[in-house]
Amino acid sequence: MNAYMPLCVPTLKGNEWKYVKECIDTEWVSSAGKYVDLFEQNISEYTGSKYAVACVNGTSAIQVSLRLAGVLPGDEVIVPTLTFIAPINAIAYNNASPVFMDADNFYNLDAGKTISFINNETVFKDGFTYNKSTNVKVAALLPVHVWGNACWLDELTELCRERNIAIVEDASESLGTFYKEGKYKGKHTGTIGKLGCISFNGNKIITTGGGGMILTDDEKLAEKAKYLTTQAKDDPIRYVHDEIGYNFRLTNIQAALGVAQLEQLPAILKRKKELFDYYRSAIEDIDGLSLSKVPNYADNNHWLNLLQIDSKAIGEDRETLMQRLEKNGIQTRPVWKLNHEQKPYKNFQNYKIEKANILVENSLCLPSSSNLTNENLEKIVSQLNG
Ligand SMILES: Cc1ncc(COP(=O)(O)O)c(C=O)c1O
Repeated sequence: MNAYMPLCVPTLKGNEWKYVKECIDTEWVSSAGKYVDLFEQNISEYTGSKYAVACVNGTSAIQVSLRLAGVLPGDEVIVPTLTFIAPINAIAYNNASPVFMDADNFYNLDAGKTISFINNETVFKDGFTYNKSTNVKVAALLPVHVWGNACWLDELTELCRERNIAIVEDASESLGTFYKEGKYKGKHTGTIGKLGCISFNGNKIITTGGGGMILTDDEKLAEKAKYLTTQAKDDPIRYVHDEIGYNFRLTNIQAALGVAQLEQLPAILKRKKELFDYYRSAIEDIDGLSLSKVPNYADNNHWLNLLQIDSKAIGEDRETLMQRLEKNGIQTRPVWKLNHEQKPYKNFQNYKIEKANILVENSLCLPSSSNLTNENLEKIVSQLNG
């Protein structure tokens, strides 16, 4: 069997067809119907977030959340450079500016450096925090729980509270990741800040084809999120709109997929953990390669596994390894190009970026779909062996 092994594809083997068929049979396919409410309710229960508001995708969920968190045009938002570009674009959609931070060992925002940036490079004046170098208000911090790794937030939340910096978490990749140590023990990623966002894009741990969710414990913010994402209707019958809203609704069909997928999440998480354990023990024995470590302070969803490469030791650089694996039916991908080096963002401030450069150079994302068989895994590892 020589099937191609993509990086991360969904498994749709539960009630997906049944629930979607029901939408079609009942002709409730658009933004009304029982599944949107049910999906919101189920995500709220699963994550422990008091409210969950469905959105057309994760990017728009972040865009709206930043607005709800009080980010105004011209403000600055602290964000990691090592992440998919969507959260940076969401800052730009709000006409705000990113301030780029370095990564820690788990590819996440470096909490220590972020604290030193806030303490040394900003001042607190009249209830707000201002960047000393630009004199601009730092309105929000946008940590991203990349690869499903929980970003360490214990000290940052306190400092941001003192400095009136709102926290909006990008938990797009971390559905299923809960803290198991520290101040937030037992809490789901995305439920620490004022708002948190999840993505249900096709490559995520569960999918709605495309979709997102805004999490918050604040009833007023949840109401406003619903209002803004559904065209800001003040009087839906007479078409009165007092604010500029968005058409960011999730459809009943997508939500039906989501409800079925969420039922599968425990089984998907179990398989993801098996993949991680398999890779870890098999790769341990290969000189020059290692599996990237995950934080021991969280129960990780193991959404995507990352290989760390010592090119000198294996005699092959990342690019050559990627191409060789591709020829053998194994899709791998480098880590994202750092955002402070992307063309639209290279003129924005970045703060002491070091570790992120190293991680980008030596990492390769491994196939991590929950439908990978043990034979698939054996083949991947045998190819890694050279
Ligand atoms: C870290 C991160 N943030 C945001 C997004 C955006 O989500 P979406 O594709 O649902 O807009 C993604 C994934 O696509 C992501 O990986």
